[in-house]
Amino acid sequence: MFRDSLARGKVLRILITGTPGVGKTVISKALAERLGYDYINLAELATQRNLIEGYDEERKSFIVNVNGLNKLLKEELKSRDNFIIDTHLVEAVPLEVIDLVVVLRAHPKLIRERLEKRNYPPIKVRENVEVEVLDYLLINSISRFGESRVFEVDTTGKSVEEVVSEIVEAMDNPKRRKKGFVNWIEQLEREGVLEEYLSA
Ligand SMILES: Nc1ncnc2c1ncn2[C@@H]1O[C@H](COP(=O)(O)OP(=O)(O)O)[C@@H](O)[C@H]1O
Ligand SMILES: [Mg+2]
Repeated sequence: MFRDSLARGKVLRILITGTPGVGKTVISKALAERLGYDYINLAELATQRNLIEGYDEERKSFIVNVNGLNKLLKEELKSRDNFIIDTHLVEAVPLEVIDLVVVLRAHPKLIRERLEKRNYPPIKVRENVEVEVLDYLLINSISRFGESRVFEVDTTGKSVEEVVSEIVEAMDNPKRRKKGFVNWIEQLEREGVLEEYLSA
């Protein structure tokens, strides 16, 4: 019954994006399981298909060949549906293979804690916290995929299951798809810690 209603809405190809550490991977996997969809992790795919074009020493991270990945996805996903793509590299995702984009959000403090726990270099932690504070993935997703396909879910204080349920409800009901309600700058100001997040 559940899947029928989704099929009617034709939400079959989903992109889950957001700042590193926001919960894309745990939530995408749980959502894929719940819906019976395929899970596609772009970082893993890039590695498997030799679409890595360098290494950033300072950030201790691999540099993905975004154009190469885009071409590969265009070809391989054009006749597929029922999948969930997990990535923060929205430019790697061809416009025409996606029906709905979910931008996950989390309080910058959570992003910082999680990335520090991952032992990311301080510069990479700082940059990604800033990415979250400045709504970078929301802005990028809207400019790439258009307003109507994009919505946000604030995961702060919610369990993975709660977030998954919220996404499923929003998939089924366009009225539940909200965006623009997250304002970390205002929130951090209320908490009296804004300085701490803006001063490098
Ligand atoms: N809603 C949540 N509640 C509790 N822990 C979470 C939640 N979402 C993510 N996490 C934890 O945060 C960390 C980062 O999540 P992950 O899915 O790897 O993020 P991303 O793929 O966006 O980098 C993981 O340890 C994960 O278990
Ligand atoms: Mg991940």
